[in-house]
Amino acid sequence: MANEHPDGQFSQKLRVPEALTFDDVLLRPRESRVEPDDADVSTQVSTNVTLNVPVLSAAMDTVTEAELAVAMAREGGLGVLHRNMDVSETGAAIEQVKRADELVIRRENVVTATPDQTVSDVDAMMERASVSGAPVVDEDDKVLGIISGTDIRPYLEVGESDTVREAMTDEVITAPEDIDARDALELMYEHKIERVPIVDDDNHLVGLVTMQGILARREHENAARDDDGRLRVGVAVGPFEADRATAADDADADVLFIDCAHAHNQNVIESAREIQAAVDADVVVGNVGTREAAQEVVDFADGVKVGIGPGSICTTRVVTGAGMPQITAVSEVADVAVEHDVPVIADGGIRYSGDAAKAIAAGADAVMLGSYFAGTDEAPGRVITMNGKRYKQYRGMGSVGAMQSGGGDRYLKEEDEDEEFVPEGVEAATPYKGSLASELHQLVGGIQSGMGYVGASTLPEFKERAEFVRVSSAGQTEGHPHDVMITDEAPNYSPQNE
Ligand code: XMP
Repeated sequence: MANEHPDGQFSQKLRVPEALTFDDVLLRPRESRVEPDDADVSTQVSTNVTLNVPVLSAAMDTVTEAELAVAMAREGGLGVLHRNMDVSETGAAIEQVKRADELVIRRENVVTATPDQTVSDVDAMMERASVSGAPVVDEDDKVLGIISGTDIRPYLEVGESDTVREAMTDEVITAPEDIDARDALELMYEHKIERVPIVDDDNHLVGLVTMQGILARREHENAARDDDGRLRVGVAVGPFEADRATAADDADADVLFIDCAHAHNQNVIESAREIQAAVDADVVVGNVGTREAAQEVVDFADGVKVGIGPGSICTTRVVTGAGMPQITAVSEVADVAVEHDVPVIADGGIRYSGDAAKAIAAGADAVMLGSYFAGTDEAPGRVITMNGKRYKQYRGMGSVGAMQSGGGDRYLKEEDEDEEFVPEGVEAATPYKGSLASELHQLVGGIQSGMGYVGASTLPEFKERAEFVRVSSAGQTEGHPHDVMITDEAPNYSPQNE
């Protein structure tokens, strides 16, 4: 017949496979004996790094700097520092995270008194620094004693010009540098003291251990810690940024993330391979979105990150016409990665805890989120008020503003001052949300409940047992609050997420 044509090469291209994303699917409920609170969400995020919470914060300049990375690690997840900063600033930010929960406060951060200071002077100094005691050192930095609020108070009543020498406790208990938390605590209980100066063999002050510091560490029993007990931190490095990779590695970063919008690029893969071979830290390669891309990196990568255009601030798909709906992308990459024991991270597009559960059920070992955390107290930037509601700034790393601050090579663009950028992201505002800990609590609680519905007590079991059903648009409407006017937003559901 005249209108019957054999398929040519172009019309053949349109015989397309289907690719799905979060809203296209739901987890099919299954028989269960698992109580959500008992579900274990610990995971492997890269070859050598396990986390108690399978969540990472995005390497974006409106999301992860040192403060948020500290909060993430304390809660058991991993913050990935963005790279719109100088290499030296990256080193300093890593150090800030690593030092945040250190058992021993280092010398340069210890508030000290000298014997000839007056007690009133020391009292004011300690108040300014928010400490309640200070080692007393001589001009060679040798420890002479320790002075605390309780030592000072009687002297303040008698005479403000009395000196520290008269008021201090001079039978001071010190400890060597290699003391651990248990021994330090025992020493404090034994001598009824709250702080122990750490000294070298010649009695020079090298640090301080405080009871408050030890108890604070105990509060965060889920924290992500390295072998030395310091908080873990991830760092984004550009695909060709060997200098930042080396500096981050030297500063003891735990995981480096090759930060590229399209890592299935031979130059990027070659460079990532070289970086991986040169550093001690684990190296996660991304982003990818297909099984072929995964196949090219699983022989050397310590993890693979998935996401081509799902992010809330991304315009990659509309600007370039390229992308992969995220649930399908995760599952394709996981098919390959699981054969090589390489962890998979689902990056972008997660609005609700249910999306995170679906990403893991589809094969991810952990999830990375940007918009979800950008509105928290610990994210950079200040709170702004618009129409009576509070917001914080959130922008894509491929937005004009972020690229002007330095991140253009994520999109494999040359930095050319004379040319206009072709952005692949937008600048936006996201609702202010309060503390990171409570946001993360909602996210993890939702994942655990999802595990309960599927009858999985661990994440590997979740991945194995989870089955998906396809959702129609009517099913999608049914799944959200409907036919009501929401009067109070729930902490884990806001129509603004839509
Ligand atoms: P969410 O949805 O959590 O996504 O806000 C965060 C992730 O989005 C990616 N990202 C971008 N993708 N243009 C893009 O196409 C951008 O400007 C951009 N900025 C960030 C990134 O993977 C991040 O983790």
